[in-house]
Amino acid sequence: MGGLRLVAPAKLNLRLLVGPLGDDGYHPVSTLMVALEGLADVVTVSAAARRAVICAEAGGPGDLAWAALDALEAEVGRPLPTRVEIDKRIPARAGLGGGSSDAAATLVGAARLHGLGLGAPDLERVAARVGSDVPFFVRGGVQWGAGRGERLRPGRAPSFAAVLRRSSAGLATPAVYGAFDRMPAPFAAAGPGEPGDFVGLAAWVRNDLWPAALALRPALARDARDLVAVGARAVVLCGSGSCLAGLFPHPEAARDAAARLPAGGFRAVVNPAAGGVRIV
Ligand code: C5P
Repeated sequence: MGGLRLVAPAKLNLRLLVGPLGDDGYHPVSTLMVALEGLADVVTVSAAARRAVICAEAGGPGDLAWAALDALEAEVGRPLPTRVEIDKRIPARAGLGGGSSDAAATLVGAARLHGLGLGAPDLERVAARVGSDVPFFVRGGVQWGAGRGERLRPGRAPSFAAVLRRSSAGLATPAVYGAFDRMPAPFAAAGPGEPGDFVGLAAWVRNDLWPAALALRPALARDARDLVAVGARAVVLCGSGSCLAGLFPHPEAARDAAARLPAGGFRAVVNPAAGGVRIV
C-alpha cells in the first residue's frame, strides 16, 4: 500500500513575549508565528504491520512523531499501525519548530491514511496534547499563539524574506526557559497589534528569550553580528534558539546577503508560506 508524502515547513516567531513560569510548568506566551517556504522536512506516512518512526536525527519512541501517533490512537480508541519516515532538512534544537512540524504532519497524514474523518479543529485539539507548537503547524500561515502557544487566532504579517543562520550548537527549549527564569523579567511590550509594512516589522520583532539564549550560548552574538554586517534590517532569535533570523524586504536581498555570510554553519533563505503541513 502506497504512503502519503507531506511537506512539514519550518516556522519563525516574529514576536515572542514570555510571561513568568506558571504552576503548570509552562510560561504564558504571546507570539506571532509564520510558516515558512524554503525550509521544510518531508514526512512519509504509510500503513504497516507495526509502528515505526524512522529519522536520522531522532526516531523511535522518543520522537515527537511517536507521541503524535499515541495521541491519535487515544483519540480514536484503537491502534493505528503506521510507519513514519522523516527526511530532515530543518535543523533540530534551532527554534524553527521542525520536530513539532513533523508531529503535525504525522497527525494529518495518519488521520488521512486511516480514514479517520477528523477535521482541522479535531486535529488541532489532538495536536495540543503533543506539544505547544504542534497545533500551529496543522493550521499554518500567520497565527497568534497564546497560552503555551497552542491557542491560535489568525494574524497578519507584511511580506518579508529572512536569512536563517546558525553556526553554533543547538539549544534545548527547557534549558532556555530555565535560564529565562533566572534573569530579570523582560520589559512589558505594547499590545499585540501587527505592523503594516516591512519597516514597521523590522522595528517590531522581539524575542524575550534572547537574553537567556545569549547567556547560554555567547557565540550567538557572532551570528547576529554577521547578519547585521550583510545588511539585515533586524535580527531576531528563532523560538528558543539557537538559530537566528535576519530580516530583509525582498528574497533577492536575502539571497545576496546569505551568499556573503562567512563560510560554514547552517544558512537558508525563507519567506512566509500560506499554509501549514500539506499532503503533496
Ligand atoms: O510543549 P513542549 O513540549 O514543546 O514544551 C517543551 C518544554 O518547553 C516544556 O516542558 C517547558 O519546559 C518549556 N516551555 C515553557 N513554556 C512554553 C512552552 C514550552 O516553559 N510556553
